[in-house]
Amino acid sequence: MKLKLFLFVYVLISSNLLYSQSTIKSLVESKKGMVVSTHPLASEIGRSILQKGGNAIDAAIAVNFALAVCHPSAGNIGGGGFMVFRNAKGKVFALDFREKAPLASSKDMYLDASGNVIPEKSFVGIFSVGVPGTVAGMDEMHRKFGSLPWKVLIQPAVDLARNGHLLTFREANGLNANKSDFIKENKDHSYLINPNNIDWRKDDLLIQEDLANTLERILTHKSKGFYQGKTAELIINEMRRHHGIITQKDLSSYQAVWRKPIVQSYKNLQIIGMPPPSSGGIALAQLMGMVEKYPLSTWGAASDSTVQLMIEAERRVFADRAKWLGDPDFVQVPIKSLVDSAYIQNRISSMDFVKATPSSAISAGQFAGYESPETTHYSIVDAAGNAVSITTTLNNSYGSKVFVGGAGFLLNDEMDDFSAKAGAPNLYGLVGSKANEIQPNKRMLSSMTPTIITENGQLKMVVGTPGGSTIITSVFQVVLNALEFGMNMQQAVEYPRFHQQWKPEHTRIEPNRLSLTQMERLKKKGYEFTNSASIGLVEAILVLPSGHLQGGADSRGDDTALGLD
Ligand code: GLY
Repeated sequence: MKLKLFLFVYVLISSNLLYSQSTIKSLVESKKGMVVSTHPLASEIGRSILQKGGNAIDAAIAVNFALAVCHPSAGNIGGGGFMVFRNAKGKVFALDFREKAPLASSKDMYLDASGNVIPEKSFVGIFSVGVPGTVAGMDEMHRKFGSLPWKVLIQPAVDLARNGHLLTFREANGLNANKSDFIKENKDHSYLINPNNIDWRKDDLLIQEDLANTLERILTHKSKGFYQGKTAELIINEMRRHHGIITQKDLSSYQAVWRKPIVQSYKNLQIIGMPPPSSGGIALAQLMGMVEKYPLSTWGAASDSTVQLMIEAERRVFADRAKWLGDPDFVQVPIKSLVDSAYIQNRISSMDFVKATPSSAISAGQFAGYESPETTHYSIVDAAGNAVSITTTLNNSYGSKVFVGGAGFLLNDEMDDFSAKAGAPNLYGLVGSKANEIQPNKRMLSSMTPTIITENGQLKMVVGTPGGSTIITSVFQVVLNALEFGMNMQQAVEYPRFHQQWKPEHTRIEPNRLSLTQMERLKKKGYEFTNSASIGLVEAILVLPSGHLQGGADSRGDDTALGLD
C-alpha cells in the first residue's frame, strides 16, 4: 500500500516536472525590442523590420502578411481582427478590422424551414464567409502610424510565398488533416495540397505562387489591391461559381474603424482592451474586477480557492457576454454598466466557496436602462516603447476551407460568430441573443482579447492569444500568472489552463492544471470537468522593472519570441 502511494505521488510529481522542464521554451529577454508570434519565420521577419528602424506598427504589418503565408490555418488576408496600440507617449488606440455580414445576409440565413440551425452552414463553405477586413486594417494602421514604406513591409511575405517555406511538423499535420475539406470545398482549384498527392511532411517546401501574386497587388496598390481590381474580381468570381453572396459593393464599402479602447483599473495596473464588437476587453475587465479583492497572490495559482474563484468569475462573465454584447454600430451595448465596479463586485458576491454555483443559477445582469476557435495573435514592442497587440482570425482552422481561385488565399467562416438563432450554440458552444443576431453590414461578436497593461503609467505587458471563446480566459489566466503569482513571462504562458464559459456547465482543463486529489475535492463541491488537450496559444511580452523585455511564446504551438539584439 505504501509502495503504491509512493508510486502514485512519484508519477504525479514527475509528470509535473516533465511538463515544466522538457516541454517549455526557454525564456527570451531583450533590452531593445521584442516580437512574439506563432511562427518562427513571421517573428524573424518582424524582428528584421525593427532592425531596419521600423516601429512596432511596421513590424506588426510585416508579421501579419508573413503569417498569411506561413501560418495559413489562421494568418490571413481573407479574415479580420483587432489591434490595441499604445504609443511610446502613452496614448492608446483600438482598431477594428473585423469582418462584416454581407449586404445580402439575413437574420435567419442559417435556419431551415422549421427554424432549426442547418448544421455546418455557418462555418464551412462559401455561405460562412464574412466580408474580410484584414487588408483594410493593415492599410489603416500604416496610414496613421507606419514609418517605413509599405512595400518594405509586404515584400518579405511576397518572397516567402514565391520562394516557398519549409513546413513545420504542426503545419504539415494541419494541412493533411484538412485535405479532404479542401478538396470538397474547392472543386475548381487546388491549394495547400501536396502536388504529388501524398501527405505533407515536416520540412517539405510549400510554394504559393497565386498568393505571391495577390500579395504583390497589395504591395503595389495597398488595400485597393485587395478590395478592387483583379483580387476583388477573383473573390467575386469565386462567389458566383458557388452562389456565394459577397458582392463588389460589399468589398468596396469595407472600412476599418477606430474605436475607444476599454481601459479598466486593477490595483495599480491599467488594463487596456478591445471594445465591442469584441467581447474581449469588457470580459477581461469584468474578470479582473471580480478577483481584485481576493488575496490571490497569498493563495497561489494552484490553490482550490484560486481555481474556484476564477471558474466562478468566468461563468458570470460569459452569461453577460451572451446577452449584452454585439456590434455597437447596430446595438446599444451597456459598456459602462458592465464594467462598473459596484456591479462587478455584486456579481461575484453570489459565489460560495463551499459549493459551485450551477450555470443554470446564473443569468446575465440586469440594468435599469441602456446607456446612451482558429485565430492568431502577435505582440510587439519596439525600442522606443511603442507596443502593439493584434489578434486576427479566419475563425475556424483554415476558415471556411474555401480558397479564392487564382488568388490562392483562404476565406474566413466568421459568420458563425453571429448568433444564428437565440440560444443555439455556435462552433465554440457560445450562445447569443438579439444583440448578436445577423444583420447586413453588422460585425459579428468576437472573443479576441488583444491587451496591453500598464503599471503606474509605464508599459507592463502586451498579451493575446487565439482560441475562440477560450481567448478571454487564457488571457485572464496568463495575466494573473505573471502579475499575481510571480511567474516569469515564459512560465506564465506555459502554465496549464482551464476554461469555463457559463454554458456548458463543465470546465475544460488541460493536463496537470489540477492534481487528481484536488479535482476530486472540487467535484464534491459540484464542479464538473472535462479534459482538454490544449487551450490557447499565448504570445506575450512582460516589461521588467529594469526596462528589459521578457518574451513568452507558447509551447503549445510553433510560437517564437525574438528579442532585438
Ligand atoms: N472567431 C473567433 C472570435 O473572433 O472570437
